Order: sequence, then structure tokens, then C-alpha cells
Amino acid sequence: QDPRIQGIAASIRVVPDFPKKGIMFQDITTLLLDPKAFKNTVDLFVERYSGKNISVVAGIEARGFIFGPPIALAIGAKFVPLRKPRKLPGIEARGFIFGPPIALAIGAKFVPLRKPRKLPGEVISEKYVLEYGTDCLEMHVGAIQPCDRALVVDDLVATGGTLRAAMNLLERAGAEVVECACVIELPELKGRERLNGKPLYVLMESR
Ligand code: PRP
Ligand code: MG
Repeated sequence: QDPRIQGIAASIRVVPDFPKKGIMFQDITTLLLDPKAFKNTVDLFVERYSGKNISVVAGIEARGFIFGPPIALAIGAKFVPLRKPRKLPGIEARGFIFGPPIALAIGAKFVPLRKPRKLPGEVISEKYVLEYGTDCLEMHVGAIQPCDRALVVDDLVATGGTLRAAMNLLERAGAEVVECACVIELPELKGRERLNGKPLYVLMESR
């Protein structure tokens, strides 16, 4: 295992019984407060995907917006945000796209400030079921070309429903999904099995 992963794992705060009883919440905001851990996280993905002909990185709202853009910039791919149409409690912002690369470059902390938003153009959408409730991802029509080779980025895979929906959306738009990349996997929820054999790369399993 890469020696950087231990430091990344140690920077993630585990909060028991959040947002409801029985869930061990993997809080990546503490990773973002540690510029070295954040940089190592992005670097590990960049090292894996450089030279792989990835033309688009698709980041899943909201936390996939934090890790996706610095990876896209470093490998020279476009970034496509996959968004949730309805208002979520205290989540996300377009500033998530531009803030993290700047914070990384200057060695500063990144603090997400969250607010509700929607995509203004024509969208295609894909509904999915979560551990707690249902949700939906939307993407702008025209963001993806049929020749695109896509990497899907998110912070965490639990049941795999979110990644599955993101893959469906990209494939419906004509892209080839090369791989899904997450920082953390909750292996007991077997999300990997819901990805129809599509490769999933994670830096670590949850503690
Ligand atoms: C969390 C996490 C993943 C998803 C994983 O996001 O960031 O996107 O759940 O769950 P799954 O594998 O069971 O689909 P959440 O929907 O809580 O919202 P957020 O990223 O907007 O905070
Ligand atoms: Mg999420």
C-alpha cells in the first residue's frame, strides 16, 4: 500500500450515529483541513489516471465537486458536474469547483460553504435510491460528446447507488466510463457489486 494512504486515513474523522443511528459517518472535511493529506489524495488519483486518455472527469454533487476538479486540471481533462436538482439541507456550491485547486496550490485549507443551486440549461437526469432516501443526478445536455472517456469521482461509495446513477447518466449521453474513483469504500454495503463490473478504484476502506 502507498505510504501516503495512512496519513490520509488518519485525517478523516469518523462520526458515529450521523446523520442517523447506526451510520458511521466518514467526514472528509477534516481531510480538507489538512493540506498535505488533501494534496496526497489528489496526487494518488492523478498518478493513476495520467496518460490514460481520460477526456472528462465527472464529479458527483456535492463532495465529488471537491476531489474531481483538481484531478481534471492535473490530467488535462474537462470537468462535468453531476448535480442534484432539489434543495438539499446545507449542501454544495459552485465555489467547490474552483476553491480546492487554489487552496491546494497555495497550501491553504479548504472550507466548503454550502448553498442550494440548480443547473440553468437543458438537463438529462437519473434517479437513484440512497441509504437514507432517494435522490437524482442531473447533467447538462451537450456536456458530454460520444467520444468522451469518463472518470467518475466521488468521496465515498456506500451502496453504490450514486455511482451507478452517475454511470447511467454518462453512458446515456454516449460517454465510455473508464473507471469510478472514490477516496473511501464501505465494503460491507457491497456497492462494488452494483457497478455492473465497471472498475472501482478506492484509496481505502472505512474504519
Ligand atoms: C454521500 C457520498 C456519496 C454517496 C454514497 O453523498 O458523498 O456521494 O453518499 O452513497 P451510495 O454509494 O449509497 O450511493 P450524499 O448523497 O450524502 O450527499 P452529498 O455528497 O451531497 O453530501
Ligand atoms: Mg455525495
